[in-house]
Amino acid sequence: MKTYKLVILPGDGIGPEVMDQAVRLLSQVSSKEGFNLELTTESAGGVAIDQYGHPLPDEILERCKKAHAVLLGAVGGPKWDHLTGELRPESGLLKLRKSLGVFANLRPVSIPDSLAEASPLRTEIAQGTDLLVVRELTGGIYFGEPKGRAGTGVSEEGYNTMRYTAEEIERVTRIAFEWAKKRRGEVTSVDKANVLVVSQLWRDITTKVHREEFPHIKLSHMYVDNVAMQLVLNPKQFDVIVTGNLFGDILSDAAATLGGSLGLLPSASVGGPVGLFEPVHGSAPDIAGEGKANPIAMILSVSMMLDHLGESKAAQAIRTSVQEILATGVRTGDLRREGLQHVNTSKMGGLICERTLALL
Ligand code: IPM
Ligand code: MN
Repeated sequence: MKTYKLVILPGDGIGPEVMDQAVRLLSQVSSKEGFNLELTTESAGGVAIDQYGHPLPDEILERCKKAHAVLLGAVGGPKWDHLTGELRPESGLLKLRKSLGVFANLRPVSIPDSLAEASPLRTEIAQGTDLLVVRELTGGIYFGEPKGRAGTGVSEEGYNTMRYTAEEIERVTRIAFEWAKKRRGEVTSVDKANVLVVSQLWRDITTKVHREEFPHIKLSHMYVDNVAMQLVLNPKQFDVIVTGNLFGDILSDAAATLGGSLGLLPSASVGGPVGLFEPVHGSAPDIAGEGKANPIAMILSVSMMLDHLGESKAAQAIRTSVQEILATGVRTGDLRREGLQHVNTSKMGGLICERTLALL
């Protein structure tokens, strides 16, 4: 029997409550599908600061590196907002991504018909949106040196550096092209090449990889400000979007809300030997512990993990079950509407779990 070693990092805020739903689903799916799970739960983010004085202690990182995959809830919260630099909860997450070498972050946004009405956009604009953001995750301005603060008074300055090597651009664009092959065959590369030198290199390299390795995929280039507008005007035009770390962070939040809630968007970070799977929403400290959180982004992150591990049947069953449950009109608070049935986090998780098992 296959055994998967997983490290579970529930993290802060709503992280633990959405993770509970993910873990329940995983355990039940594994017994039904006949694979074993070896789960180790560890602290990361604010809880790890409280417990160990560091958002990601080395021993926990080592355990993550030895796993088949890592599942993460969310990190951060007002309690740790006064901390700076390496001691912030977010730094733990960045260290994890960098150390696992997961340079490509996949964020799929597809709006089922049942949710098009919940979109802040007009139903006919949102309906049918099905795109994948491929965000570079271990480089760019998030990690570029030099960075720091210098000077004092009015001449004090803060600075970061956005830099990419050709190799970093090549490897993430290859992943985007590979995904486009399995989808509608179109890649939009997003940059700010009208202003930034680093974007001019980005454009040259994506063009080269396209010409030499993926001539049958359709490649277009767009400026990031235009993409922000196009996502709102006509999101259906996009198939695969590939972009750098900062632009990808911003655009994926915008894309995620097209379905009415950030609570729906999962992500997979890949490229290294161990994958990292986490919902795109943050720790939402304002609703933590109240059973209001939407577990769907976390549950769909489990589905992406199972796909990555080669358990595609289970992965597909989870996706189908989420669609079917939403189609019955059940909603958590983030998507609450008159006439729909309102449920809490664990009820939503339970319904999805039950439906998934019935599909397997
Ligand atoms: C995300 C988050 C993180 C990021 C934060 C929490 C460091 O916003 O995963 O999108 O900026 O990458
Ligand atoms: Mn973000």
